[in-house]
Formats: sequence, C-alpha cells, structure tokens
Amino acid sequence: MTGMETVRIGIIGGGLMGRELAAVCGRWLHLVDHPVKPEVVAVADLNEGARNWFNQVSTVTTLTSNWHDLIDDPNIDVLYIAVPHNLHEEIYLAAAAAGKDFLGEKPFGIDLAAAAAIVEAIERSSAFVRVSSELPFYPGAQRCFEIAQSGALGELVDVRSGFSHSSDLDRNKAINWKRQQATCGEIGVMGDLGMHVAHVPLRLGWVPSDVYALLDNIVTERPSPNGPANCDTWDNALLAMRTPGGAGRDFTMLWETRRIAPGQMNTWYFEALGMDAGVRFSTRTPATYQQFALRGGKQIWEEIQPGNISAWPVISAGIFEFGFADALLQMWAAYLAERAGALGDRFGTATPQEALAAHRVFDAALRSAQSRTAIAL
Ligand SMILES: NC(=O)c1ccc[n+]([C@@H]2O[C@H](COP(=O)([O-])OP(=O)(O)OC[C@H]3O[C@@H](n4cnc5c(N)ncnc54)[C@H](O)[C@@H]3O)[C@@H](O)[C@H]2O)c1
Repeated sequence: MTGMETVRIGIIGGGLMGRELAAVCGRWLHLVDHPVKPEVVAVADLNEGARNWFNQVSTVTTLTSNWHDLIDDPNIDVLYIAVPHNLHEEIYLAAAAAGKDFLGEKPFGIDLAAAAAIVEAIERSSAFVRVSSELPFYPGAQRCFEIAQSGALGELVDVRSGFSHSSDLDRNKAINWKRQQATCGEIGVMGDLGMHVAHVPLRLGWVPSDVYALLDNIVTERPSPNGPANCDTWDNALLAMRTPGGAGRDFTMLWETRRIAPGQMNTWYFEALGMDAGVRFSTRTPATYQQFALRGGKQIWEEIQPGNISAWPVISAGIFEFGFADALLQMWAAYLAERAGALGDRFGTATPQEALAAHRVFDAALRSAQSRTAIAL
C-alpha cells in the first residue's frame, strides 16, 4: 500500500457508533504520517433518520436501507459493522464470505456459538478483520500494558479489569434493544461491556481456566410505547477467575461489568499486581496512571502523568489531554495501519480470536450463575 492511500469505508448500522466513525474520519489530520486516509462513502441503516444524519458528511455518496448493497459494492474497501448483537452473525458471515475487510463491533456474535461460527468463517476468508475495543488506547492504559508485558510485575498476584456505568440507574429509562435478551443476548451486560474488559488481559496472555460468576438483573421491567416491557438481560456481572500464571501457580483475576454502578459515569479500569510491581489505570482519572514499587522496604504507589503520548503519534502537543474520541481515533488508526501492514510493534485492535476467548468466558459465566458453581473452561 502506498502513502496516504484512500480507504473507502461503508458503515452498516449508522447509529451511536456509526456516527462516531464519521467524526473520527473528519479529524484524521491529527495523526502523523499514517499510511492511509479513510473516508466514509456509504451507510446502510434501516432507519431513515439515522441515514439522513450522514447527509452532512461530504464523502458519503450512498445511503441505503439494505446492508447487502455495501457488501456487494466493489468500491468499498472496508466495512464498519455496528448493529444490534442479534444481527452480528448474519452480517459478519456475509462480509467474510465476500472477502470484505471489516471492523466488527463487540461482542462479535450474540453468543459463543455465533462467535465461533464467525471466527471460523474469517479463518476461511481473505478478509482482514478486527474487533472494536478502544479504551485500552488511553496513554495511561498503554503504559500499564507495556509495563505488564515487560514482565516487570514479577510473579502475578491479582488482576482486575472492569467497566462500569450507570445509564440504567433510572428505572424510567425506556427499554431498548440493549436491554432485551433477544437482541442483546443472554450474556447481557457482558456482551455490552465485556470485550472492553477482556481485551488487555487476553492480549497479555492471561486466559482464565475457571470462572465463578455473580450475575444480577436489577431492573426487570422498563417503559415502552406499549406499556411496561420485560427487561430480561443481566445488568451487572462480576466474574472471579483462576488464571494460570506459569510456574504451576494460578493468580486471581476479576472482570467486572456493570450497567448499574451508582456513582460511575463510564469508568473503564485495569489493575495488575505482582510480587515486584503493580500498575493501575482508570478512565475516571484519565491523565494519570499509578505504579506500585517496593523501595527500601517501603510500599510506594506513584502517580505518573503519561502525557498525550498515544500508540499512533498525533500532531497535538504532548501536554494536551486525551479523551474518549482520541481513543476511538487511535483504535481506527491501529486497525487501518495493521491492515496496511504498517502497525509495527504498536498495540493492535482486538482480534477475532480474543473475541472468541472472551465469549468462552461469558458462556462459562452463564453456566456458573445457573449452577452456582465454578466452571472450568
Ligand atoms: N465500542 C464501543 O465503545 C461501543 C459503544 C456502544 C455500542 N457498541 C456496539 O456497537 C454496536 C451498535 O451499537 P450502537 O450503540 O451503535 O447501537 P444503535 O442502536 O445506536 O445503532 C444501531 C443501528 O443499527 C441499525 N440497524 C438495525 N438493524 C439494521 C439492519 N438490519 N440493517 C442496517 N442497520 C440496522 C439501527 O437502525 C441503528 O441505527 C453493538 O454491537 C454495540 O455493542 C460499541
């Protein structure tokens, strides 16, 4: 691929996340020496209002209600597929069968069987496919990842990874597809937030062997235009896991996903503690990460400001502060650079195999909650 080649992107599902991608492309100039330049050229969405939002995006030439149009369009290089979870399998399978490169939204299939079928199809296909997960691209998270990956933590003691918000604290919030098993999946909140939590541990090779899950459905009914509707997904999930750490010893790992976490707006965190050192980062304090050290017999947590030093370099000054939109920009920069063979040793977007590994954990969590026992993976 040559310098600044245009990559024409088609969005299937022009809702919350589809619009974010159009905005990401609009600020691509922030990236320094990226090998390609993405343009959203087409959008498929059933909803006319959703489609019409893209009239303001000057590069968009196709708006359609039929997603097959985008899969069949030879002028589209990459698809971003961001639709309700019950549609993942059909659309991802069609994209893979057509050999179309795509970034698929998590959870990458409504359940384990769907994820397995998708990953199998991708392995048979020439398509370059990755899974959306942007939060590990915060500079503080990147530094924690690098420290953990370097082995500096020593023998692992405990790892915690979580994502909590409270958009469902309001019992009067109307029902939507994310709050119903049929469209969101039986795994509920784990499908919504779990890939974000699994990405860094799995990238570090920390694959649990046993899962004990506490799942909670707190609000069981929500208003709908036709009266109260059944809200039958898990709101919160706490997964306690045994994880092989080498040398014949397991360490403890906790994955926490909550739609009802009073006091949390949208907090993603990662913490890893070893016998020699520890790291922790939270998007609640996005400009800093913390590092634990034993020095002269003293236990010290230090706070470090990593600055605006992202995985892909940007024109913004190193003292400027990083936010959610920057994380999305970085994720897309990573996906498109990796597709162009130019990612180098930078942090990559989540892989289909990682999505499948996460699904195995969520599936075991369902069985654990049902049987009230730990489940071996
Ligand atoms: N990475 C993240 O941070 C993040 C955040 C939120 C959601 N998501 C994921 O993104 C995906 C979409 O979520 P969202 O929040 O954008 O949802 P959304 O409801 O805002 O948007 C989904 C869009 O898909 C459209 N759609 C439904 N059926 C369709 C069909 N058959 N053909 C074409 N379009 C169709 C809907 O009309 C809607 O506009 C989900 O997989 C979700 O888990 C990711």
